[in-house]
Amino acid sequence: MAKAQGKGDTGYSGTRWSTRNSVGENAKNVSLTTLQALLTDAIDLYNATRQAHWNLKGTNFIGLHEMLDGFYNDLNESTDALAERLVQLGGVANGTTQNLASTTRLPPYPADLLDSIGHVKELSERYAMVGKALRDGIDETDDAGDADTSDLLTELSRDIDKKLWMLEAHLQGHGN
Ligand SMILES: [Fe+2]
Repeated sequence: MAKAQGKGDTGYSGTRWSTRNSVGENAKNVSLTTLQALLTDAIDLYNATRQAHWNLKGTNFIGLHEMLDGFYNDLNESTDALAERLVQLGGVANGTTQNLASTTRLPPYPADLLDSIGHVKELSERYAMVGKALRDGIDETDDAGDADTSDLLTELSRDIDKKLWMLEAHLQGHGN
């Protein structure tokens, strides 16, 4: 059956497998939905970061090109941590291109953009969105009783906040 699409759909299929993990059932349900949505957003952010790394030209080219290399390598680790936490809770992580395209909460990344400052602005918007989504997830999973997932999201949100700062620092004098 086709799933409803749009911002209300996290892309989590609901598929579960049995585990001895003692996190409560309600907490597991909340965390699986939250983790799948964040996994999708984070993979999309990874792809956007690579798009910018490859194509940006102009002001501070080499600094930005190399900085973004570090960003997407970190995001590679972060997406892995989100997916593996989801599986530990008895879920099935969905990292397919098809699910990503239909459920990401980030806006489409402009495929023809070249200007380096333009890329920094586009990325800043998306890093801020993911930072907020992670913070929302910290509270949702903690309130549901899954302190471990909440802790993971806390760690990841600090990292995304740091990257947002490093992006926004390049916008000084460029209309922020
Ligand atoms: Fe590269």
